[in-house]
Amino acid sequence: MKVTVVGAGAVGASCAEYIAIKDFASEVVLVDIKEGFAEGKAMDLMQTASLNGFDTKITGTTGDYSKTAGSDVVVITSGIPRKPGMTREELIGINAGIVKEVSSNLLKHSPEAIVIVVSNPMDTMTYLVHKTSGLPKHRIIGMGGALDSARFKYRLAEALAAPISDVDGMVIGGHSDTGMVPLIGHATRNSIRVSEFLDAEQMEYVVQETKVGGATLTKLLGTSAWYAPGAAVSGLVQAIACDQKKIYPCSALLEGEYGLNDICLGVPVVLGKNGIEKIVSIELSEDEKAKVAASAEGVAAVNALLNL
Ligand code: 2OP
Repeated sequence: MKVTVVGAGAVGASCAEYIAIKDFASEVVLVDIKEGFAEGKAMDLMQTASLNGFDTKITGTTGDYSKTAGSDVVVITSGIPRKPGMTREELIGINAGIVKEVSSNLLKHSPEAIVIVVSNPMDTMTYLVHKTSGLPKHRIIGMGGALDSARFKYRLAEALAAPISDVDGMVIGGHSDTGMVPLIGHATRNSIRVSEFLDAEQMEYVVQETKVGGATLTKLLGTSAWYAPGAAVSGLVQAIACDQKKIYPCSALLEGEYGLNDICLGVPVVLGKNGIEKIVSIELSEDEKAKVAASAEGVAAVNALLNL
């Protein structure tokens, strides 16, 4: 399994690190436009191999896409991250051009690859790759819901004063502060609904803190987060590499599912060696349906800015 990660910034590098530590890929190639940066990150990471006990070979290149040839999975993290006070949507102008060019360079050398899009605004960037690459829809996956769900579980565990391993929950909808739909009504502590333990106000707090999870970190760090995004991407890559058939919420092209069309939005999908092997339709309450519809409207408005 060969994986390419474009963008050797904080998210790309932590993604490469988590993939290597899990030791399921033979090779990870880091690509960046900044001279020597990807090579440096790759060398630094390789010098952790004997310490962390992995055999994955990590290499770096300054923009030479021939080095990425034959990748099974490619991850696009390139583009500018948001600064405190910015929304993910404000990045569209610069990042759309970058994502379009990067995906075309990648697919020239790895025409069979499965593409994971991380760059923001992620749902719109995933849609852009659908519209411009001609790839079948099961091979284009937007990473947002896996991260947002991890943040949801963190907040649930905190509110429940429970270990995270006791908690399960999922966030669907758009990967934005207003578009996320944390499914609090479906969240459980060891298969017991969390509403058995938390009152309405506590549940609302969990939902709100989840939705601004990325913004809270951007404020604290001065730039957007990287550990959880990197770990979330590595989980998706592993599900594909190891044909795990795991369910993750991912941004997928919808063609009628959840009553939506011609849009990429976070929904539960089964991930395996073919990428998105199935979109899972779950029963939503009227309130959840309305929130998903509003989220889709928000993403569609950002998609319109692409002028495709
Ligand atoms: C985040 O939410 C990078 O969009 C990503 O942190």
